[in-house]
Amino acid sequence: MSQQFTPNNPLPQEAKVPVEMAVFSLDVEAEIDRHLAKYPVKRSAILPLMFIVQRERGGYLDPPGVAYLADRLDVRITDIWEVATFYSMINTEPVGTYHIQVCRTLSCKILGAGKITEQCSTRLGIKPGETTPDGKFSLSEVECLGSCGTAPMLQIGFDFHENLTAEKLDKILDTCERGEYVFTVKG
Ligand code: FES
Repeated sequence: MSQQFTPNNPLPQEAKVPVEMAVFSLDVEAEIDRHLAKYPVKRSAILPLMFIVQRERGGYLDPPGVAYLADRLDVRITDIWEVATFYSMINTEPVGTYHIQVCRTLSCKILGAGKITEQCSTRLGIKPGETTPDGKFSLSEVECLGSCGTAPMLQIGFDFHENLTAEKLDKILDTCERGEYVFTVKG
């Protein structure tokens, strides 16, 4: 399974208005209402709502999820895509259980981000922008994640792994491969 969900190819899905709109449980609707109530302007809730829809739609914003967001926030489908394709924590295509996002910006680059990506690619048999055939790992290169002082670093889900070395990375990947990785920050 090879997917193009990276910022290098920001609009992998067709930009047409989907006919189908996602439907959520009453609990999720209530969670969404709570976020909307915090903002005087509905569209300001776009990111918290995106995280909820992404979580509920299997880890990415599918066309029915995007249609739902446009409807709830009173914006155009294009407005949703503009935001979704800007932030690397929002996925516009399915990703693996462990979405490894390696920072490739200056501090990380200088301190060996290229080698970190290469090590992931070699071990997992995928290039940035791809997912392993078993759907376990996706690999991406992303821009600065705001942890430049602890470069090189990567993110899995919402967890940061900093001051990476080859040994440290091997241990992280071992844990994922054994299915023992524990997400400390919930998406
Ligand atoms: S340059 Fe990598 S976190 Fe900022």
